[in-house]
This record gives sequence, C-alpha cells and structure tokens, in this order.
Amino acid sequence: MIDFKKLTAHCKEYGFIYQSSEIYDGLAAVYDYGPYGTLLKNSIREYWWKSMVQMHENIVGIDAAIFMHPKVWKASGHVDAFNDPLIDNKDSKRRYRADQLIEDAIDKLLAKADKEVEKAKKRFGDSFDEKLYRETNPRVSGYLQKANDINRRMNEALNAGDMAALKALIEELGIADPETGSKNWTDVRQFNLMFSTQLSNIAGEEGKLYLRPETAQGIFVNFLNVKNTTRQKLPFGIAQVGKAFRNEIVARQFIFRMREFEQMEMQFFIKPGTQQEWYEYWKDVRLKWHLALGTDPAKLRFHDHENLAHYADAAVDIQFEFPFGFKELEGIHSRTDFDLRSHQELSGKKLQYFDPETNESYIPYVIETSIGLDRMFLATLSNALIEEDLGEGNSRDVLRLHPALAPVKCAVLPLKRNEDSIVEKARGIFNQLKFSFNTQYDDTGSIGKLYRRQDAIGTPYCVTVDFQTLEDNTVTLRERDSMQQERVPIDRLEQIIGDRVEMKNLFRV
Ligand code: GAP
Repeated sequence: MIDFKKLTAHCKEYGFIYQSSEIYDGLAAVYDYGPYGTLLKNSIREYWWKSMVQMHENIVGIDAAIFMHPKVWKASGHVDAFNDPLIDNKDSKRRYRADQLIEDAIDKLLAKADKEVEKAKKRFGDSFDEKLYRETNPRVSGYLQKANDINRRMNEALNAGDMAALKALIEELGIADPETGSKNWTDVRQFNLMFSTQLSNIAGEEGKLYLRPETAQGIFVNFLNVKNTTRQKLPFGIAQVGKAFRNEIVARQFIFRMREFEQMEMQFFIKPGTQQEWYEYWKDVRLKWHLALGTDPAKLRFHDHENLAHYADAAVDIQFEFPFGFKELEGIHSRTDFDLRSHQELSGKKLQYFDPETNESYIPYVIETSIGLDRMFLATLSNALIEEDLGEGNSRDVLRLHPALAPVKCAVLPLKRNEDSIVEKARGIFNQLKFSFNTQYDDTGSIGKLYRRQDAIGTPYCVTVDFQTLEDNTVTLRERDSMQQERVPIDRLEQIIGDRVEMKNLFRV
C-alpha cells in the first residue's frame, strides 16, 4: 500500500491535483485538478457515464442545474435532517464531528486488537488460527467487544438524534482534542451541511437558495419530464454527473472529504415490492464496474449501513482500502418512494407511473447508486501508484492505471533531441497519432528520464524514434508495466495502441 503522504506529493508534483487558491495559502477541503488530473477525471467520468447510459437501453442521462427551488430541499428532508453532530473544544477553539471523534476511539481499540493478533501470529507461526484467537484471547476479545459496544451506542444516539448521549459517550471514553489534549468540550449540537446563498430579487427566507448537497434531487424533480419525453417503461434509470456542495465540519484526508465535489448518481425507478431484487442486482453490477479496472478484490468490500439516512430502507457502501484504511467509496441505497412521494405532496403534482400491465398508477420505488468522482479518483490513484524496486539500488514510481483511464495514452520520444532528422520524424508520428488518442511529444531530457516521467503519469505506451527509424520506418514501442520493448512499423502504431487503450475493453471484461 502506497504511503498517503507520498500519494498527495505525487499528485502535486505531476500536475494531478493542486490546493485551491494555493498562492493565498489554500482553501480548506477545496482542490483544483491540474492537466493530468483533469484528463484522468474525465476518463473516470466517461467510464461511469458509458457504463450507465450507453450500456443500458433503459438508462438515460440528464444535466440538471445546481440551483433548485428552495422547496426541493424541504421536501427531500435536507433542510431538517441533513446534519452532522458538531462539538467545539473550549480551550483550543477547534471544531470536530462528534461521531468522528468516537469513531477514532473505536479505531484505536481495533488497532490494539490487531497489534495483539500480529504479536501472536509471530509467536505461533504456521499453526496460528487467527479467527479462534480473536474469539478466545481475553485481551483481544475484550478490545473488540468494547469497540462493538461503543459503536452500537453511537449509532443508537445518532439514529435517535440524541446529542446529549453522544456528549456523554465522549466524556465517558475520556476523548481529548486530538491536537491539544484538552477535554474541555461544549455540548454536541446539530449542524446543517448545506451552503446557502440569496437570490438578488427576493429578500428573506423566500429567496434563500441552496447549493445542492446531492445531484439526486435534480433527477427526482425531472422524473415526469424524462418519463414523458423518453417513453421509458419501468424499470428505468436516470443518470447524472455534477457538482455537489457540503459544508463539511472537518476537512481531512485530501480529496476524500471535500466541500465542493462531483457526484455520479443514478436513480433506478422500479415497481414497489421489487426493491430487494434490484438492490442485489445493482450491488453486483457496481462491484463488477470496480473490478473491471483490475482492482485487487481484497481492496473492495461491502459494508451495510447501521445508521440509515432519512430516506433509505436499506443501504450498503462499497468500501475501498485507501492508504488510511477501508472507507466508503460508493453508496447503494434503497430509497423507497420517499423522494417522489415528498415532492408529490409539497408540489401538488402527481409523480406517478401508470403500469400498462396491471392498469394501476403508483409512485415508483427507487434504487440509487451514488459515487463521488473525486473519491473514485483517489481510489484509482491509491490503487495504481507503486514504488517499484528495479534492483541494484534503482526504483521507479509507476502509475499502473488501466490504459483506458490513462491521461496520456502514448508519448512520442526522440532518442536524440539535437538530431533534426529524428526530431522531425518523431514530430510527424505525434501529429499522426494525436487524431486517434491523447498523445504527448517530449524531448526535454534523456530517454531514461523521459520514460520515468511517463511512468509517473501512467502513460501505457512510449514510442521511441531512433536512427533505425530513419532507415526502415520502425520504432520502439515500450509498455509501461512490463517495460518490454518491441519493434513495430510506424503505420501499425495507431492500430496497436488504439486497440489496447479503448474504453470498450472495460465493458468486455
Ligand atoms: N444521493 C445520495 C448521497 O449523496 P452520500 O453517501 O451522502 O449519498 C454519495 O454520498 C457519495 O458521494 C459517497 O459515497 C462519496 O463517494 C461521495 N461524497 C459524499 N460526500 C463527499 C465529500 N464531502 N467529498 C467527496 N465525496 C463525497
């Protein structure tokens, strides 16, 4: 697993991600994508969009506005219930999420249990039965039981909206400010995560607009429009990619938790009563989408929600093992008819579907798949970045991205940058290949340095032009991961590279 600090440094050094407004010391939890980051993000977005809209006859895409009527957020429950529990430390004046402080305490207990297990593993060698040890060793099972108990009590308090119980738990566990060690806490209170702004022509509450905290509501309020204009029959889905905004209390872990981010969401409208079947279907489809990228299956797992959002009757996360542990990457939620029903009630418009098979009208149920594009970007980089030992004291940083996602598909490199005939030939190849896929020409260093730079940005193929090229029109084609080189005719490059970097390879898995 790549070190997290190394990953963030790599993002900056190679033009993937910069801190927003860096010359003014940055804006917390807001980031800008650099040239290679933008290309990689576009590829991930395209992979998701095509997998939904192009690969499913019954899924269509929309692009709704970020601003919506203020009543949307009343109906969706976000005005009343989109809160996080906040706590301030009176001495340090630092602000935290109460549930995260408690989760950190749980993680410490789990880490203690893991440490004991590791020690025993070394002691007992091959005969060690980890499962049995976790269940029977008093110290380990004690840590695990305590962690479970705290987790259960935290979830009960969160579900009941009982802020006093969260505060009591923090005090009972002796949780201190992680920065200063102070235990002088305020009470826990609810904090609404929506950013708001004001319309210029309407004063007061009536003109209060919110920056959408999820893209899903743009889909729900367009349900009738899409149904009527596309003549889709149930089951059908509406997909959307776009910005979402949340006033997160604690900014941490780089682009994992941002205040401005992008979501890729799909609402799948179904007949009531079929939600279990479609929930399982989408769990399976979405896991396969991740695995098709070549992600190690051990780094992905399902995690059922214990603390259900206000709209869901079942919910599961696909978690990914980030450099800081297993965390939510994507959510699959069974949203019942909560959203359409609420919008129907508040708007007075009938948001129903007439089922020609049963001659009945009903409000459809919804299965949602929701993934953060930025979080997927972080997972993709964490999975791909490797520090490879090449022996004899040499190493390289290589981004083993799936070729279909790579920002640059091919780099054309002249072996000698001062040799006009080679440079001219290389430029000619670049000018030919750029019509088919993203190609880069680079002559700013020695060939070894140029290869390393392309490895670091994940370019799957490098084409090297040398003296032999001038004689027989062949070049060296180097593959990133194996570093193997083959001699190929120039007129076959487009076909060879094109076939290997096509997005459709991801759908054929
Ligand atoms: N419409 C449902 C919804 O928004 P969510 O679990 O709150 O559900 C869905 O968010 C996904 O959006 C998450 O799994 C995560 O990938 C991404 N996400 C949520 N908050 C985020 C944040 N502050 N920064 C980056 N990504 C975020």
